[in-house]
Amino acid sequence: MSYPIDLSVKPDVSPHFDAASNTISYIVKDPASDHCAIVDSVLDMDYAAGRITYDHADGLIAEVRERGLTLDWIIETHVHADHLSAAPYIQEKLGGRIGVGAQILVVQETFGKLFNEGTEFQRDGSQFDALFEDGDTYMIGDMQVFTIYTPGHTPACMVHVMGDAAFVGDTLFMPDGGSARADFPGGDAGTLYDSIQKVLALPDEMRLFICHDYGPDGREIAWETTVAEEKAHNIHVGGGKTREEFVRFRTERDATLAMPRLIIPSLQVNMRAGEVPKDKDGRPMLKVPINRL
Ligand SMILES: [Fe+2]
Repeated sequence: MSYPIDLSVKPDVSPHFDAASNTISYIVKDPASDHCAIVDSVLDMDYAAGRITYDHADGLIAEVRERGLTLDWIIETHVHADHLSAAPYIQEKLGGRIGVGAQILVVQETFGKLFNEGTEFQRDGSQFDALFEDGDTYMIGDMQVFTIYTPGHTPACMVHVMGDAAFVGDTLFMPDGGSARADFPGGDAGTLYDSIQKVLALPDEMRLFICHDYGPDGREIAWETTVAEEKAHNIHVGGGKTREEFVRFRTERDATLAMPRLIIPSLQVNMRAGEVPKDKDGRPMLKVPINRL
């Protein structure tokens, strides 16, 4: 696949860190117009109380309004397992189209079964406004974006490249953070390694914006790196680590990891493009499948 790379377009990137889930959401503005996209938004959830609030999403919305921007797209790099997407909440306030990778159908099939959803849960991606395949393009104002299919962490992961800035989701973390786990249903460590190579094949100076950072060893939270830095220093794949080395390491590490605190609500909401499921009386309601994850 040859991608339409254009490093001369340098979008303005505004990060919004969510401390509860260690997620970085982004407002990305086309340098040539007042159009923008939001990448990987977050709802606030107190799971023990079953309470959803909107402080983080309201911060994104307030900034878009204050800067007088038009929101073209609300992008999900993948179906997150650790936080709930605020995509429909933001869409209701600001408009924009919600986009995700076309392999969402695989994710919906897997988790539709796991949560024993009935036939009213469509497994055709129709909850989203756009489904992206490898190499697809779309516009934010005058800025062309292209997508790279990067499965491994989940089956529907996509990297979105906007000018000289690539939004890598959980394909890579900061160099000292390494990579995301590959043991969720539909994940695969070897596939993740292959996807990471696609990102590392981008130009050295491409800016990379990551979705999560945990501040390893007490360093401050960070979200921006480059292809060159990842190639040289990423602790899981940098310095020419082989696929075999990566798969062995990743598999051993993943076996030690606990499930993310919000995986059960996150999957149910995010496979519906951020809508909370409803019970037969139309009330928002979540399920907890026992001994299934
Ligand atoms: Fe993730």
